[in-house]
Amino acid sequence: MIRLAVRCQPEQAELVLAELTVLAPGGVEEVAADGYVEYAIYGAEGELPDLGEEEKVVIAGGTVEVEATEVADDWADRWRTFHKPLLVGDPDRGPAVWIRPPWEPERADLAEVVVDPGQAFGTGAHPTTRLCIEALIEIAGRGDPFGPLTDLGCGSGVLAIAAGKLGWRPLEGCDNEVAAVEAARENARVNGVEAGFDRIDLKSGLPALAPTTVANLTAPLLEIVANGLSAENLPETLICSGLLTTEYDRVLAAFGPHGLVETGRGAIGDWGSLVFAREGSR
Ligand SMILES: C[S@@+](CC[C@H](N)C(=O)[O-])C[C@H]1O[C@@H](n2cnc3c(N)ncnc32)[C@H](O)[C@@H]1O
Repeated sequence: MIRLAVRCQPEQAELVLAELTVLAPGGVEEVAADGYVEYAIYGAEGELPDLGEEEKVVIAGGTVEVEATEVADDWADRWRTFHKPLLVGDPDRGPAVWIRPPWEPERADLAEVVVDPGQAFGTGAHPTTRLCIEALIEIAGRGDPFGPLTDLGCGSGVLAIAAGKLGWRPLEGCDNEVAAVEAARENARVNGVEAGFDRIDLKSGLPALAPTTVANLTAPLLEIVANGLSAENLPETLICSGLLTTEYDRVLAAFGPHGLVETGRGAIGDWGSLVFAREGSR
């Protein structure tokens, strides 16, 4: 069994993952570290996508490092070992979300989300996903009424499902990847959460946005979302992530003209998040 690793800069990650997901629809393992993101695909020789013999190749317009290593026969177990449950929030202080792969024990006392790794983006482990969940937990802890929520770029649906477990409903989400929409629907079913997921390319227009909207996208896509906002389609609370900490200002500049003001920001490594509230809605 071969592990084919592709290492890229965080700002390339979205495009590289999109490319690899097409080449390896069975699933891509993700390791986020300081300064780079590594994606890995497992397969027998001949089954893996042909990325050439070079150590550096161009994927999605950027140079990435490629390394193929032989893995032991117990790779399936190691794949499982790799995916650990994740606790976001502190259960002693307020709401907390427990994200786990199906084979790990359940925690009925927490807002639990079961996600099978190897599907679309969104096992919960990615810093940008965690930043969004932290923001949802913070808002949930205020004790305000929940109401509807929209998840833009839903991937596996992990954010909408976590929001549903915390109390938001009804839930809607969208993604431009067919595999993501299918995975999100299946994950909602497995988690007993009612949510509608549709295939929408945000570059072609926005769906109707709920008062709480979460958007874990890249900074350029967040700007596209901002351009599509109108007085009739404007969330009261907007949680954005997927941006780098060097990109706070450009994302603030994109949403500011719509009367969305910053109420919080977060960071894990190079990744950042911003929370906005509509002026006058706080
Ligand atoms: C960073 S992932 C976030 C996934 C999930 N929400 C999470 O937090 O784990 C971004 C998602 O946006 C989707 N996406 C990228 N470009 C898009 C577009 N133009 N329209 C809709 N979704 C898009 C990707 O397919 C991917 O699932």
